[in-house]
Amino acid sequence: MKKVYLVYPETKGTIAPEIYGHFSEHIGGVFYDGLWVGRDSDIPNIRGFRKELVEKLRALHPPVLRWPGGCFAETYDWRDGIGENRPVRRNWWTPMDGRYETNAVGTHEFLDLCELIGAQPYFAANLTGVTPMHIRDWMDYCLSPRGSTTLALEREKNGRAEPWDIPFWGVGNENWGGGGMMRPEHYADECRRFATLMSNVSGRVELYACGSNGADYSWTHGVVPQLAPVKGFIKGFAMHYYCGHAGDPVAFTNEEWDQQLRQASRMEEIITHNWNIICGHGMQESCRLVVDEWGCWHPDGSGPSKGYNLFEQQSTMRDAMVSALTLNIFNNHCDKVRMANAAQLVNNLHCCFLAAGEKCITTPTYHVFDLYKEHQGAQAFNVAVTDNEVFESSVTVSASVKDGKKLLTVGNLSCTEEAVLQLCAVGEELPETAVLRLLANDDLHAHNTFENPEAVRPVELTVDPRQPLHIPAGGIAALRF
Ligand code: AHR
Repeated sequence: MKKVYLVYPETKGTIAPEIYGHFSEHIGGVFYDGLWVGRDSDIPNIRGFRKELVEKLRALHPPVLRWPGGCFAETYDWRDGIGENRPVRRNWWTPMDGRYETNAVGTHEFLDLCELIGAQPYFAANLTGVTPMHIRDWMDYCLSPRGSTTLALEREKNGRAEPWDIPFWGVGNENWGGGGMMRPEHYADECRRFATLMSNVSGRVELYACGSNGADYSWTHGVVPQLAPVKGFIKGFAMHYYCGHAGDPVAFTNEEWDQQLRQASRMEEIITHNWNIICGHGMQESCRLVVDEWGCWHPDGSGPSKGYNLFEQQSTMRDAMVSALTLNIFNNHCDKVRMANAAQLVNNLHCCFLAAGEKCITTPTYHVFDLYKEHQGAQAFNVAVTDNEVFESSVTVSASVKDGKKLLTVGNLSCTEEAVLQLCAVGEELPETAVLRLLANDDLHAHNTFENPEAVRPVELTVDPRQPLHIPAGGIAALRF
């Protein structure tokens, strides 16, 4: 039996709600057939957005939604997505999936979606294909007060009189790769040029520089020190880490279960290493970490569209465990992590939803976000687990307190052994009862399908937290008291 010491009230800091963010790119089936069905569709919708999905997403309290890419952002012209008669364009992904962008969803529609689900928007600016003035115009269009500028008047003509609040803007995306294949020193100069104009706007904006590709710290070393002149504007370093795949997305072996989780657990080192470089350059007060793409990346073809939607994948209990582990890592590093965005929201990569036609289901990852949602804005505190050295028999934990209620989230990383945990509160008595929400399945390959949409779903129990807590192999528990 492992002992889990809950060490409060000393907190590690506030868990930024934005750590529980999502990402919605114009790629594959994320928007078209996923989020967006169109205003004239027979599928129930709210101003074109799939109603069922909007309602289920809203229930997660999504704090932030990133858009429009990803790599898509690098060929995006915001003017294509406003007003009447929108052009159809090739987009970044057209060579890979043969689809063209209709621009049915543009700035107004996306921001309407954010209002429907209660999320703050996070825009990724195109730094590769347009000028800084082009992006500054987009910001002018969105953020300038009613009636103030010609672009604000154009916005009003298009149906929105008041400015939106768009607090987060990315200065490019993956500029070490699809975003121009830049060298770090070249990106740093571009970032300074764009950031200077992108901060010349109405309203509060946090700008995020393009961060490292996972553990490629040469990018961090090259870019971070060069950001000093714009540190008044650049508030984050937005890195990406996908933990790839291990075997088949559904029919994986026990060894591949472990391998996938080992890959996911590298997030810890990547956060710490990047953070040390930021601190080494004295940028820690102004530039926190943003992980604006993370998740598993399995081979295509396991999702319901069987490969029609680019990067669509099924999601099992293993993906749920990657989510549980990753979100615990973010919580435990809440002093460093400003925001994170799971990639992506619907029908793509590490998604919360699969949707097509009239069908819309949630994935096991959706349930993890639901189990963890009370961590948003809470104070994280220390949890220490004894006998947790061996990866195969270890658990992942994080804990927080908000409005007097504590939330302990635990994932049993072993795919074969039950975890038995004895909670020990340091500085306080444990109460007699707690609410336990448990996401577990006898078959860790279990996943939700259109035919069986609730194969994986949590159960809720009232338990005595002073008694040993039994978490089945591969199970994820959220204990609230
Ligand atoms: O999420 C899919 C793609 O992965 C994004 O467009 C890009 O930023 C990353 O390489």
